[in-house]
Amino acid sequence: MILDVYEAVTSRRAVRGFTSRQVPRQVLERVLSAAAWAPSGSNLQPWRTYVVTGGPLAELKRRAGERVAAADPWDEREYEMYPAALKSPYHERRSAFGHERYSALGIAREDWEARQRAAAANWDCFGAPAALFCYIDRDMGRPQWSDVGMYLQTVMLLLRAEGLHSCPQMAWSVYRKTVAEILSPPDELILFCGMSIGFEDVTVGYRRTGRAPLDETVTFVEG
Ligand SMILES: Cc1cc2nc3c(=O)[nH]c(=O)nc-3n(C[C@H](O)[C@H](O)[C@H](O)COP(=O)(O)O)c2cc1C
Repeated sequence: MILDVYEAVTSRRAVRGFTSRQVPRQVLERVLSAAAWAPSGSNLQPWRTYVVTGGPLAELKRRAGERVAAADPWDEREYEMYPAALKSPYHERRSAFGHERYSALGIAREDWEARQRAAAANWDCFGAPAALFCYIDRDMGRPQWSDVGMYLQTVMLLLRAEGLHSCPQMAWSVYRKTVAEILSPPDELILFCGMSIGFEDVTVGYRRTGRAPLDETVTFVEG
């Protein structure tokens, strides 16, 4: 499928419901080969990607599911997902996102249990038959983490060109030891995030997330 870049960007969203339809290995190879052209400072290409499908993914979901069911504490953090005190306007944006995400599923703001149940679907990859896990060397600094972000967005846009959807998931970092049991990554790597990949289950409700108005995030300095 040839997709206009604007269409790829605007049709990408965090999809949280996938069908069991398999994703062919050759498609994933095509996407990841093209995504390797993402830019990185001095061309370090600091991403290390593991693609997981089939039996190993089923086993990972099973082990993670067991931890969720046992209310197992999260693994100690290798990086903080968010600043401890999220100031304005980020705090408000996060609240708005939470409201959009859970109200689309008919979950009330104060229904903590239902929210937890919905969040637990992260560790089932929202039903997706494929996932990738993106690591970065622990020696790398903030610029290289940003390179990894560009790479991941490139992957997600290319997935759209293949008719596929995705959901990037920092949630997997909280069970990084379970992920490592399946992938056996070298010690020098930190798990940044997982990403569920597959065909969208269109029966799962969602509300499109909004975005801040342009003048909140962009300043034109003109002569
Ligand atoms: C690095 C990164 C990590 C994310 N982690 C999660 C996650 O663990 N679980 C989840 O459901 N969504 C996750 N998301 C998706 C965001 O919530 C989503 O991108 C954001 O709300 C904007 O919505 P949209 O992508 O649908 O436009 C993550 C996104 C990014 C970029």
